[in-house]
Formats: sequence, structure tokens, C-alpha cells
Amino acid sequence: MQTVRSSEELARARAEIEGTLALVPTMGALHAGHMALIAEAKRRTNKVAATIFVNPTQFNDKDDLARYPREEAEDARKLETAGCDLLWAPSTEDIYPQGFCTTVHVSGVTERWEGEHRPGHFDGVATVVAKLLLAVRPDIALFGEKDFQQLAVVRRMVADLNIATRIVGVPTVREADGLALSSRNAQLSPDDRVRAVALSRALEAARDAVIDGVDVQGVLSEAEDSLLQAGFSKIDYFALVDAATLEPLDRPGGEMRLIAAAVIGNTRLIDNMPV
Ligand code: PAJ
Repeated sequence: MQTVRSSEELARARAEIEGTLALVPTMGALHAGHMALIAEAKRRTNKVAATIFVNPTQFNDKDDLARYPREEAEDARKLETAGCDLLWAPSTEDIYPQGFCTTVHVSGVTERWEGEHRPGHFDGVATVVAKLLLAVRPDIALFGEKDFQQLAVVRRMVADLNIATRIVGVPTVREADGLALSSRNAQLSPDDRVRAVALSRALEAARDAVIDGVDVQGVLSEAEDSLLQAGFSKIDYFALVDAATLEPLDRPGGEMRLIAAAVIGNTRLIDNMPV
């Protein structure tokens, strides 16, 4: 695996790649969820590139950015073992040079949920993902369904800007008990780690109830009660939405998704499930 930093080095490495190329953008601290994206990329294209960049502009909370785990040497080993061909790990100055003042803003699909609770977050995501796609020009780019709204935002942006990369969504990888893998799980106390399983359980129960035809409002308020009872201190949202527009649904219809964000201890967890 070749590792590059500056966009000049990246451009040189990119020019040497022949055949089809997949890109897996990450912020590092790689776990089995990220590695599932690499594995899926390997199945689909001749060459696989990954990026590791803890993107400051998508953190709306300075402490969250400071706390974010950085494990680049370990990450590089994992990528190498998984058969990744190219790692681009730029510095903040490489991505945001002096005087940088361009923002990619996707409206509509960013307005609710994470967009509402993390102001500016999706501008940071859309801007950095646009930069990564334009610099690497991959045939496909893979994103986890774990961040379901992010996937929808990236799809919208790529369509709207005619970026010639196909976006591929990959199902969420979970711990044995159902907790969705996340770099933030490491911040959970042992007690909270046990209690955190309530989030995926609540989504499963809600999915089953929606399928059984139970009234949607009742399903959602029962889910919120179960999270509070399990020890979550705050629920940012627990909603049934249209899977493409992320608009809330008060009755079942079309392709649906249950999405949730809730706080346990000092950690905010998000998860979602298809219905
Ligand atoms: P990060 O949180 O590092 O996630 C990188 C990719 O891994 C994302 O596409 C995310 O959805 C996926 N992922 C995370 N946990 C997963 C899981 N349990 N199962 C499957 N996929 C999972 O998301 C970002 O970084 C950033 O916002 C980024 C897109 C890199 C832009 O900065």
C-alpha cells in the first residue's frame, strides 16, 4: 500500500492507477465497520483507495473534535492487511489551505435530524467529500448505512454536481449484541456499553411493530420510553422516515427507515434500520 499526504503526491499516485478505482473516505480509528467498506470495495473494483482525515469543519463541538481518536499507524496496518492499494492521509492545511472559503451546502435532506442537532455538520461533510471525490476521481465511493442521512446527503450532492462517481451504500456492521460499531463506542463506560444495546433493540422492536401495523405515533413513543428506561438521558430523535427524502412519516408507505439519535453518559449514539 502506498501512503500519500499532499494533493500533489495524490495526483501522481492517481495517475499511475489503471482500471477501476474505489474510494473509502474515513476519519480513521478504523473498526470492522470501516473494514466492511474496504472488503466491499475490493469485490467491486481493481484498486481500492482509502482516506483518513479527521475533518474539523464537520465537528460542531470542539471537545468532540479534540476527543476524536487518532490511530494512523494502526489504521495503516489494518488497511494494508485488508488489501487497500492507496492511503491518502492529508494534513488539515492540504485540505483547507490558507484563505479557503468555499462551502458545499446541500439543502432539503440536510435540514432535519443530524442537520438540526449538529448545525453546520453536513456543510463540513459535503465540502470535504466533494474535495475527496474531485481529487481522487474514483469510479465508485463507498459509505456506510450507519450514517444514513450522510449517505443520502452524499448521493444528493453527487447527483446535483454531476460528479462522475457512483455512490455505494454498505449495511451497518454490529457487535454481537446488536450495537452498531462506531469509533465513539470506546467512550462508553462499561455500564453504559451494556445499556447502549437498548438503541438497536428499540429500533428492532419499532420495526416489528410498524410491520405489524401498530400506530406509528404509539410505536415511536414506546421506543423513546424504552430508551429512557434503559438509561439514555436524552433522545434527539426517534423517527420513521422516507428512506430517500428523510421526511418524517406518520403512517407506513414506500421505502421506509427508522432513524434514531440518543445520548448515554457523555456519548451521543446514532443508529437506523430499514423497515
Ligand atoms: P467515519 O465516521 O470514519 O466513517 C467512515 C465510513 O464508515 C462512513 O461511510 C461510515 O458510514 C462508515 N461506517 C462507520 N461505522 C460503520 C458501521 N458500523 N458499519 C458500516 N459502516 C460504518 O463518516 C465519516 O467518517 C465522515 O463523515 C466522512 C464521510 C469520512 C467525511 O469526513
